[in-house]
Order: sequence, then structure tokens, then C-alpha cells
Amino acid sequence: MASFEKHSLVGQVALVTGASAGIGRACAIELARAGADVVVNHRHSEDEAKETAAEIEALGQHAVVIQADVSVEADIVRLFDQAEEALGPLDIVVSNAGLQKDAKIGDMTLDDWNAVISVNLTGGFLVGREAIKRFRKKGVRSQVSPAMGKLIFDSSVHQVIPWAFHVNYAASKGGLHLLMQSLAQEVSAEKIRVNAVAPGAIATAINAQERARNEEGMLKLIPYGRIGEPADIGRAVAFLASDASDYMTGQTLFVDGGMTLYPEFRGNG
Ligand code: BGC
Repeated sequence: MASFEKHSLVGQVALVTGASAGIGRACAIELARAGADVVVNHRHSEDEAKETAAEIEALGQHAVVIQADVSVEADIVRLFDQAEEALGPLDIVVSNAGLQKDAKIGDMTLDDWNAVISVNLTGGFLVGREAIKRFRKKGVRSQVSPAMGKLIFDSSVHQVIPWAFHVNYAASKGGLHLLMQSLAQEVSAEKIRVNAVAPGAIATAINAQERARNEEGMLKLIPYGRIGEPADIGRAVAFLASDASDYMTGQTLFVDGGMTLYPEFRGNG
């Protein structure tokens, strides 16, 4: 097998949560570019999700759009049922849906806290648990991959970098880190690989206001000197989904232009 073929996802089915826009959309597209058929999940952006699906179809792959809220248990079971009915058993699941609700600690409401934890962390648990159950039911399909399944979480540099005024978000990503590692420890012996990608500042709606207000300040935190593009993350996720990363499990791939190098220490400290 030529080594580039290890990047191929031909014959595999992927599901991406929160794939109507931003990083989720880019993941869906890059998985399709590598040859996968893709389930495009969204919560309340059907039109945008259909645009993601159209891009996937333009690449010659099948796509299906399914609405579901990742923080609702019954929605997740229905999402996986409908996904498998439409495209067949899943080989790859990307738990991407996430949000921010920023506030200073004195102003942060319990609703702000719960909204973020329930989507970013509890959503990761619900999607991860269902993915693992379905991978077990499907078993290994050695004609497409030596792994029984590939589960990938979209985390953040803030799984390690503390973030004032965003404690709900940082706590959710810190939790996701140990959720990912603990799941990997639990299921890797079954040939289920569990990994995460940790994006830095990527140009999406989540930080559009901050980029408009303070792009210069953000760039000071990025040694590589540019804000990331969603496709930077999509390509890393496609790698984690492929056999090119077959010996990786329990790992986080930081794709951040060097943000986790703490560049403010260069010449200081
Ligand atoms: C956040 C963005 C932020 C980036 C770097 C991401 O996880 O969602 O708002 O720009 O981390 O701080």
C-alpha cells in the first residue's frame, strides 16, 4: 500500500456534530475529500447544514443532514439511528459541537455555566458513549481500516491554557481532555481509537467579535503569525480519522500556530 493511501477514507462513513459552519463544516468537507460519506449534524441551522452537504456532494460523496441537540440524550440516539439508516454503520465520529457564553465571574449566571457545560462536555460524553456502542455493534471492517472505530473530540488550546472571563468554556475543555483520555484508556484494547484536536484561534463565528475588536492582540499570542483557517483543523481531523494515525490513541493534536508555546515568555520571565 502506498503510504498516502493510509490517508484515504474511501468506503468509510463519518458523522460530524455541529457541522453547519466553522470547524465542524471544515471537518466534514475534509473527511469527504479523503473519501468518506458524511452525516452533517446541526442544532438549528438547517440551511447552512445543507450548504455543507452540497459541498460534500460536489466532492462526489454522499451526505445527509440530521438535526439533533448534542446535549439531549434522546436526540443523540435518534441521530445515530437516522445516520446509520441513511448511510450505514459509522466508522468515524467527530464530536465537534460547542459554544461559548463569556462573562466575568461576578456576572456569570448558572445558565451561562450550564449552557456551555451541557453542550461542550455533556455533549461530548453523550456522543462519545453512543459512538463507542455503535462501533462495537459494527465490529472491525478490516477491508477499510484496522481500527473498529475512530472517535475524535474537538477540544481547544484552553484544555491547558487557563482563560479568565471564560471559566465555563475552559472548564468544559479541561473536562473534555480527561474524558477523551479516560475513554481511550477504556476502549483502545477493542481497537477503538480516541483522540482530540485542540485548535487555537481559528477564524469562525465563535471569535468573530473578538477578531474585529482585537485581532492585533490575538496575533501576539500566535508565533506563526496568522489566525487559523477552519481547514487547518479539518485536515488534522482527517489525519486522526485515517490509518495514517493508526498508532495514535489518547492523544491531543494541538493545531494552534504555536499558541501553546506561550510566546509572551519570549524574552520575558
Ligand atoms: C475559542 C476561541 C479563541 C481560541 C484561542 C478557542 O477555543 O473558542 O474563541 O479565539 O480558543 O483563544
